Amino acid sequence: MNRTENGKRPVNVAILGATGSVGQELLKLLDERKFPFANLKLLASARSKGSTIPFKGKQYPVEEANRDSFAGVDILFSAAGASVSKELALLAVEAGAVVIDKTSAFRMEPSVPLVVPEVNGHVLEGHHGLIAVPNCSTSQLVVVLKPLHDLAGLKRVIVSTYQSVSGAGKKAINELEQQIKAIVHNQEYPPSIFQKQIAFNLIPQIDQFLSDGYTKEEDKLIQETRKILDLPNLPITCTAVRVPVVVSHSESVLCEFEHPISPAQARVALAASSAIEVWDNPEENLYPTPLDAAGQDPVYVGRIRKDTSSDTGLHLWVVADNLRIGAALNALHIAEYLLEHNLLRQPVVN
Ligand SMILES: NC(=O)c1ccc[n+]([C@@H]2O[C@H](COP(=O)([O-])OP(=O)(O)OC[C@H]3O[C@@H](n4cnc5c(N)ncnc54)[C@H](OP(=O)(O)O)[C@@H]3O)[C@@H](O)[C@H]2O)c1
Repeated sequence: MNRTENGKRPVNVAILGATGSVGQELLKLLDERKFPFANLKLLASARSKGSTIPFKGKQYPVEEANRDSFAGVDILFSAAGASVSKELALLAVEAGAVVIDKTSAFRMEPSVPLVVPEVNGHVLEGHHGLIAVPNCSTSQLVVVLKPLHDLAGLKRVIVSTYQSVSGAGKKAINELEQQIKAIVHNQEYPPSIFQKQIAFNLIPQIDQFLSDGYTKEEDKLIQETRKILDLPNLPITCTAVRVPVVVSHSESVLCEFEHPISPAQARVALAASSAIEVWDNPEENLYPTPLDAAGQDPVYVGRIRKDTSSDTGLHLWVVADNLRIGAALNALHIAEYLLEHNLLRQPVVN
């Protein structure tokens, strides 16, 4: 058996949804971060069966996922949609895998840890095989809220999101690109993934509407933020908007605190987090944009200023790559934490 320098054996990894946006980003990150895997299994739907994906100089076959796909798998990254996770994730757990689930299938179940390791990694100690990764817009938000809450106590949060099309998967990226091309050539390209035309537009609806007038996406951000920060009664509200950007979600965040803090204090607290880069200098027009964040690992924060409508409020602008910190990188950080703390189902240490 191969062993890494620290005596741990490399683990068997499978990616469910390997042909999708998140699955492809995961593959890039496994390589970039030199994740110590022994075997790699790539799973997708029947549509992809028989295709191959090049990775680290080899061609890996894509297999159709089914209930027998998980024997010998230590870690399953599940990124093929909530319905697929509901059907297959527990079977993978039964087969001995730890499932790191990118979908919304199990996030709000009390027994399932919902994790951003930089914020609440400690809850991984109590996992039962199934671990949920938050929605992309939640991940970048909690990374920023945590140090501010530790500094001054959150009293209220108001978030407006500006979410890129890649958050809706590879077909959504294609719709934006094709629609732009069609429109500049005076041709029609009716929407099919989005509810309205996304090219040269924005859409104040992500996912379905609920009976209270919020969308499911807004509700996810609210509920998941409370769960991760362990603040079940935090007053928090959200408007989630889809914008014609390919990668990176942006958020305008207004926080009210128990105690007043200055923008300078907030900058220091945020800059102390290894997950955050503060880009904030109005004199030099320095603030993060989606293009700055695309392909990068940090959560970027700028435009930090006092709220003019309350004594204890701060306004911030938060931008991050939704496929990385919002999905694949967060999932990989969880896997690295599990390895480091020996939290897989089958021990990996001598
Ligand atoms: N994109 C983001 O920023 C983001 C962030 C957080 C969470 N998520 C969540 O992560 C999941 C994947 O998102 P994505 O953006 O990567 O979607 P995507 O680009 O549309 O990819 C979907 C993947 O799922 C596979 N799949 C679909 N139906 C399947 C089935 N019945 N059995 C097995 N595999 C199946 C597809 O395989 P084929 O190629 O064979 O169709 C493809 O690999 C979703 O639940 C999404 O909500 C996404």
